[in-house]
Order: sequence, then structure tokens, then C-alpha cells
Amino acid sequence: MITSIFTYFLLLFLIHLFSNEFISLQASEFVSYSTNFTTCWEIERNALLKFKEGLQDPSGRLSSWVGNYCCTWSGVGCNRQTGHVTKLDLGMPPSSFNINDPKAFDFASLQGTISPSLLDLKYLHYLDLSWNNFEQTPIPNFIGSFTKLEYLNLSYASFSGLVPPHLGNLSNLRYLDLSSQSLDQDTLVSDLNWIRGLSSLELLRIKVANLSFASASWLQAINKLPSLMELDLSSCRLHDIPASLPILNFSSIQVIDLSQNDFNSPLPGWLFNISSLVELDLSSNGFSGQIPPSIQNLNNMRDLVLYENDLSGLLPISIGNLSSLETLFLSSNQLNGTIPETTGQLKKLIMLDLSSNNWGGVVSRIHFLHLNNMKVFLLSSVKEKPLVFDVGYDWIPPFSLNLIFIKNCQMNPKFPIWLQTQKELKIVELIEVGISGYVPDWFWKLSPQIEKLSLHNNKLCGELPRSLQFSHSSIDLSVNLFEGPIPLFSGVNMLGLKNNSLSGPIPANFVDAMLHLEFMDLSENYFNGSIPSSINKLEKLEVLLLQNNELSGKIPSMNRLKNLWTLDLSNNNLFGSIPSSLCSQSPLIHLKLNGNNFYGKLSSLQNCTNLGTLGLANNQFHRGIPRWIGETLSCLSILQLRGNMFRGKIPKSLCSLPLLHVLDLGQNNFSGSIPPCLGNLSSLYHSKNSTFVSAAVAAHALVANAVAAATTVATVVSTTVASGKKGAIVAATILEGFMPFLSGMRDMEFNVKGQTLEFVNIIDLVNLIDLSSNNLEGEIPEEITKLSALGTLNLSRNQLTGNIPKKIGDLKLVETLDLSVNHLSGPIPASISSMTLLSHLNLSYNDLSGQIPLANQFQTFNDPSIYEGNPKLCGAPLPINCNAPPDEPFGKDRDESCSERLWFYIGTASGFVVGFWVVCGTLVIKRSWRHAYFRFVEEMKDMIYIFIVVKAARLQKKLRPW
Ligand SMILES: *[C@@H]1O[C@H](CO)[C@@H](O)[C@H](O)[C@H]1NC(C)=O
Ligand SMILES: *[C@@H]1O[C@H](CO)[C@@H](O)[C@H](O)[C@H]1NC(C)=O
Ligand SMILES: *[C@@H]1O[C@H](CO)[C@@H](O)[C@H](O)[C@H]1NC(C)=O
Ligand SMILES: *[C@@H]1O[C@H](CO)[C@@H](O)[C@H](O)[C@H]1NC(C)=O
Repeated sequence: MITSIFTYFLLLFLIHLFSNEFISLQASEFVSYSTNFTTCWEIERNALLKFKEGLQDPSGRLSSWVGNYCCTWSGVGCNRQTGHVTKLDLGMPPSSFNINDPKAFDFASLQGTISPSLLDLKYLHYLDLSWNNFEQTPIPNFIGSFTKLEYLNLSYASFSGLVPPHLGNLSNLRYLDLSSQSLDQDTLVSDLNWIRGLSSLELLRIKVANLSFASASWLQAINKLPSLMELDLSSCRLHDIPASLPILNFSSIQVIDLSQNDFNSPLPGWLFNISSLVELDLSSNGFSGQIPPSIQNLNNMRDLVLYENDLSGLLPISIGNLSSLETLFLSSNQLNGTIPETTGQLKKLIMLDLSSNNWGGVVSRIHFLHLNNMKVFLLSSVKEKPLVFDVGYDWIPPFSLNLIFIKNCQMNPKFPIWLQTQKELKIVELIEVGISGYVPDWFWKLSPQIEKLSLHNNKLCGELPRSLQFSHSSIDLSVNLFEGPIPLFSGVNMLGLKNNSLSGPIPANFVDAMLHLEFMDLSENYFNGSIPSSINKLEKLEVLLLQNNELSGKIPSMNRLKNLWTLDLSNNNLFGSIPSSLCSQSPLIHLKLNGNNFYGKLSSLQNCTNLGTLGLANNQFHRGIPRWIGETLSCLSILQLRGNMFRGKIPKSLCSLPLLHVLDLGQNNFSGSIPPCLGNLSSLYHSKNSTFVSAAVAAHALVANAVAAATTVATVVSTTVASGKKGAIVAATILEGFMPFLSGMRDMEFNVKGQTLEFVNIIDLVNLIDLSSNNLEGEIPEEITKLSALGTLNLSRNQLTGNIPKKIGDLKLVETLDLSVNHLSGPIPASISSMTLLSHLNLSYNDLSGQIPLANQFQTFNDPSIYEGNPKLCGAPLPINCNAPPDEPFGKDRDESCSERLWFYIGTASGFVVGFWVVCGTLVIKRSWRHAYFRFVEEMKDMIYIFIVVKAARLQKKLRPW
């Protein structure tokens, strides 16, 4: 459901953007059919009235459809001479309703079924039913009988199913738009074979459909259309494109958009021989191979969009011959070598995106020589050896940019003084470019016009200005050497100051200056003093990250933070109990209070029913775990209580948490036995259940769609940018807000493989039970061997007795098994050698006896210390020989377990994602998906942001010249 809501809106935006330009152009050509004829043919009037009967029309758009004079009815057009109805224009322009509001859409749209009575409109030339809601019904076959039809627009009208091949009879059709808003199965499906009948077609647009059934000859069918000017089949699951096309029939084609299909083939060379092309979008297709030097034939080319493919090799020098080029998007490919200096010849260039390739060499002033019109510039290299951006210190560039993004390049270490010439900057991102020293005052003076500023991962130092005025901006100065007190940046929505040397208290007036904050990351600084109680005024705050500072005092009341869903206060000197107000309003999902001095009851968490992560490690809690945790916090997936003085038994109620996959109770005073019901922790199971698998696949699709949608989110911006609002950041956060699980619980620490590892962004993949260093006694319950998805089992340093369960080998995915320092006795079960992923084993200081297994990876465990302190053990690597014959090899073929492991990763991660977001996240996501500023993988964030901005800018450019 989330998927469809999400994609629905994205596509709504997309639509809004892309569909209009051409429609308005083209529709004007059809205006002659629309006249003000005042009589009406009765048969046609009756046909229209029947048609109206089949529709629901909540907003009364057809209220003028009464009386005799049907040619005056709204949306109806007649021929002036004959009086016949020639035009039915019932499309709803997206500008006529609030695109963000599905209810507004439902109200404004026509719904229901299309009556075949329409067939009586024998003279219909123009039919537009776009932007209505025909409720997933198929496109009626009879539309193929309107043989006079020249214009047919059925886009975004919730049609689904097979496109009737009857449409192929419309030999007069010039304009056809069947774009759709759904990526679900309900979308339109076609093999495109009927297309060849449309011999007059000038525009063919089917955005978002399932054309995967089209055979390799789909292009042959289209090549039969001599008048075709625009072809748009983006997001259509097409997978075959011919490498060569002997005869190019559609020689008047100007626009080709085949973005977001599944071609995964070499770039077809013939595309680069179509000299009429003005716009070519092949983005997000997995095209490989080189950009052909023939590219120079494209001298009408205005927009060349090739991002997100696998293009490799050099960018041809002949790129400089594309004298009409305004947009060049090459990001996220594998292009390498030096960027040709001929880019400097592209006098009309407005947007140049060279980010995320494998560039080497130097970028110099010559690359920009004649780029007087450039407004948007992006450059980054993903190579280890940095790309050098050397334009000199005193450069006066020919352009005046709105957006500059340079990442992972080597720039002059001084702050680039040439930016002082750039008076129109709105978005400045200079990330990991090796600049150091002070940020000059003139730069900060840009603040009122800055929408996004990112200088993270540099060596900038000095104090930040005490106060600056921004306006709905996103400011990221993380990972630098800034020092001094916290700055008061007003008008900031998103503030990232992570990992600097800022110090001093967080003053109460800081909050007053920043009432619009939605995302705040002050982590990894030296802030001290208490968290000001005024923080409760930040009613829009969704994410608050204060970990790794020197904050002291108690957690203030946060009962007004209605939107807070991530709170991390780890590793400070905070104390006291967890305030009961914490979840009284907020939908808290991630709560991390690790590494402080908190104590007291946990009862204040009782209302945190959305909680997915609870980190209370390394505090002073010393009571028992209350039973209700397992009963009330049903979304809990990560529970980390390590390093406290929790006592009593491990409550059985924890076993019923359906999503729990990390249970870390180490270093406490738990006593009693290990509850056998831990074997019921269902998210640590891994049964090959097809329901589960399809859910997992769905989850992957969800993520994939979200990423794919990143580019289309851009369209939101277009709406806002075009209407003069500052929309880019909002748009970026739609996606980011949608994917918070990716950001997961970064920085979570667990003891795995004998050392403390930091899991960055993969916490959702970790399946762990750690009960080490407690006073647990009794036997290891056999039931625990049912947890076939478990990756780490640490029961060390307890008082456990009895044998190691015989079936321990059923834990096939365990990589870390630590049972050391207990009183376990008996043999090491032979089945243990079937744990073929096991890489860290510790059985030392028990009372085990008999032969150490030798099969499989046990041959590689040649460190005797993992067995030491078991005087009755024998065999390699211990220096004690056994007389008994070695065990039978036990265990499976390694390939199989590898594939199982893959299975595990796919299964468990997605299972969690599905589980969490379907069961628990729904409520929150509705509120947050549009607003949440959340960073996930840094790379991803930048990429998405940039796509958005760039696309937006491209649109803006389309809409009006700069
Ligand atoms: C259309 O016809 C109506 C009724 O005769 C008249 O009031 C109106 O001005 C006409 N509109 C145009 C554009 O001719
Ligand atoms: C660029 O990539 C091509 C193809 O991937 C490779 O053959 C070539 O060696 C690379 N050149 C450089 C300079 O890395
Ligand atoms: C939990 O919520 C209930 C009802 O909203 C309220 O009466 C109760 O005081 C809350 N408990 C805590 C610990 O906040
Ligand atoms: C798979 O899991 C689902 C949901 O947990 C359950 O309804 C279904 O019966 C299971 N199917 C099999 C074959 O175990």
C-alpha cells in the first residue's frame, strides 16, 4: 500500500511536469475543432447524456450538460459547419487541483465507466479523458472505432489491463498518450504490435506501462511511423532494443525518451545517427559500452540525458561539436579518463552533470571557456585517485551558477575565492574537496539566498558566524574542524553539524532562533551543559541526534514534539530516568540512550508502541526487564540492554516479539535459565515460505522503486520551482523520508567476531542473540537451534551446564559462536561442522571432552586458544592426541551454503523491512513521508538530491528561459 501511495504521488508529480509541455503545444493545433455551435444533433446529444449517466461527477464538472444545445456543454466541441460533435475534452488539468491531496483529486475527477453510446459521436476527432479515475478498468475496445480520431489522451485516468489492439485502427491518429500512474500489476499491458497501424502518429507517449511482452520487434513497429516526432516509452519494462536499425524510417523524430527501462545492452549506435534529435533521454537503463564518437552528428541535440547507466571509456572529444546542447547529464556511469576540454565549446550549455563517474586527470578553466550560460554544474569522481579541479585561485568564471556540486575532487585547499563572483547561488555543495582554513565572511553573506549548503568532509575551521538568516534551508557542515559555540542559524529546516569541535552549551535562544528545525544533528562535538528545556518548542522536529557529546543533566520534557521519530542521546553524561512524556505525543521509532547514566524504571516507555529500536546499553538500569516490553512494544526489532545491572530472569514475553532480530542483553546480572521460548523468535527463523519470499521481493521492489523514483521526484520541484517557491529541498526529502530504514541504526555497536564492530547501515541485516556475561545457569535449550537465521550467538561467561545441543549444526548461518567460560561438558557435537559459515568460534574454559571436529572449516581453526581450558579435549590444534578415529565429515557442500547465505540476506533484511513498515511504520510514514529530512547513505542522499535539483532545473529551463 505504501508503495502504491508513494508511486502514485510521484507519478502524479511526474505527470504534471512532463505531460503538459507537449499537450499544450499539440492541443493548440486541434483548437479549430472546438467552436461555439449552438444547436446539436439529437443522436449525439443522447450519446453524451448516456455517457454522463455512466459517470460519477462529485464536483459537478458536467453540470452544464443539460438542455438541447450540446455544443455549448463544457468540454464538448462541434464542427462549425456541420454541427457534429468533434471534440470531447474532459481531461482535468493537474493545475486545477491540489496535487498533494488525493481527496482533492478524487473530488475533481470523473469516475465510473465509459458508455459505448459514445460510438454515436461518429465525427469525433479529439478525445481527452486524462486525469480521471476509471477505477482500473480496461480501455474500452470501441475506442478503436473512432476512425476519425486525431487526438487521444487517456493518460493518468486509472485504466489498466491489456491495451486493446483495436487502437491500431486509428489511422488518422496524430497524438496518443496512454501514460499511467501506477507501477503495480494493475498497469497497462501491451505488446505494441498494434502500433504499426497508426500511420499518422506524431506523438506516442506511454509512460509507465508493462510492455515487457513486446518482442524485440517493438521498434520495427515504431519505425513504421514516418511522421513520428516524439516517442516516450519511459518506465515501460522494455528489455530489447536492436543494436542496429538498417533503415531509419522515423526520420523526423525529435524527442526520444526511453528512460527507466531494462535494456542492459550496449548503447545502440543507430540512435546517434538521427540528426533530427533534439532530446534524447536514455537514463536508468543499464546501457553499457562507450559513447560513440559519432555523437557529433547530433547537431540539433538540446538535451542529452544518459545518467544511471554503465557507460564506460572516454567521453568523446566530439562532444564539443554539439553546438545546440543545453543539457548534458552523464552522472552515475563508469566514464573514465580525462574530461575533454571541448566541453568548454558548448556555448549554449545550461546544465552540466558530470558527477559519479570514474574521471581522472585535471579539470581546468578551459573546460568552462565559453560556458557563459551555465547555471547548474555537478562534478564528482568515485575513483580513489582524486580528480583534480584546478581553475586557479583568481579565476573569474564566465558563468553565474545557481547550483554547484563538487564532490570527492581535489581542489585548492583555500576556500575558492572565485565563488565570490557567483551572485546567484542557491545550492552550494563542496563535499570532500580538501578545502581547509576559514570560510570567508563574503561567503556567509549569501545565506539569505541559499537553499542548500553542504560543506561536509572538509577541513574547514574557525568559528561559525554567531547568527545568520537563512530561509527554509538545509545546512550541512558536518565532518569539519569548526569550533566555538553553536551558531544561531535562523530559518533552517535541516541542520547538520556532526563531527566538528563545537563546544559550550546549547543555549535556550538557539532553539528560539530555529523553530523550523525538522532535522538536527549535533552529534560528535563537545557540547556540554544540559539539553535546554526549550527544545520542546521545536514542534516540527522529526530527528534529533545529540550523541557523542558531553551533555549532562536530565532529559527535558519533549511532550510537544509530535513528529519526533528518531532520538539519539547516546554517549553523553545524561542521567535520571526516562521521562514519561517521551512518547506521549511522538511516534518514536528509534530511541537510543546508550552510554549515559540513566536509571530507574522503564515504565515510561510503555506508551512508545511504535518503537522499533531501543538502545539502553551501558547505563545504570538495575531492575528487571518488565514483562510488558514483550507485550506492548510489538514493533521492537532491536533491543540493546547490554552493560547495565539488569537483574532477574529474562522474561518469556520477549519471545513473542515478532520482529525482534537483535537481542543484546550481555553484561548484566540476569539469572535463571535461558528461556527455551527464544526458539520462537520468528524473525530469527528462516523458513522457505513463498509468502515470505514474495513479501521480501516486494520489499526490494519498494526500495528499488523509491530509488528509481528519486529521479522522478524532481517533478515535484518543478511545480514548486516553477511557481516561485523553494521546493527543491522539500522534494529531496520526500524520498529521504520514505527510506528511513536504510539509515537504520547507524553507529550501532555489537560484539561480533570477538571485536566490537560498527555496523553502518546494515543493522537490519544483523541477527544476533548476546546473553554473555550474566549469571545464567542451566542448559542451553535445544530450542535455540531452531533459529536458523541467527548470525551471532554469544552465551559466554555464564554458569551454563550440560551439553552443547546436539543440533547446534542447525544454526547454519551462524558466523560467530561464543560459548566460552561456562561449565559445558560432554563432546563437541559432530553437527557443529555443518555450520559452514562459522568464522569465529570460542569454546574455551568449559569442561568439554573428546575429539575436536576436523571437517570443513574446522581445519582452519588452528588457534588452540579457542579450545583451551578444556582439559578433556583432544586433537588438533591442541597438542593432545586422541586415540579415537576422526569424526565422519559432516556437512554440506559449500556452494549450497553460499547460496543459502545469500538467501538469508535477501530474506531477513527484506522480511524485516516489510514487517516493520507494513506493521508498524504505516502510521508514521504518512506523516513523515513528505517532510522527514533524513539522511541515509550519504552517497545516496547526494545522488538523489542532485537528480532532483537537476531535473527540476531542467524543467525550469523548459518552462522559461533563464
Ligand atoms: C457562444 O455562444 C453563446 C450563446 O450564443 C454566446 O453568449 C457566447 O458569446 C459565444 N461565445 C463565443 C466565443 O463566440
Ligand atoms: C577506462 O575504461 C576502459 C573500459 O572500461 C578501460 O579499458 C580503460 O583502461 C580505462 N582507462 C583508464 C584511463 O582508466
Ligand atoms: C500512556 O498513555 C495513557 C493514555 O494515553 C496515559 O493515561 C498514561 O499516563 C500514559 N503513560 C505514560 C507512562 O506516559
Ligand atoms: C507462510 O507464511 C505465511 C505468513 O506467515 C502463512 O500464512 C503461510 O501459511 C505460510 N506458508 C507455508 C507454506 O508455510
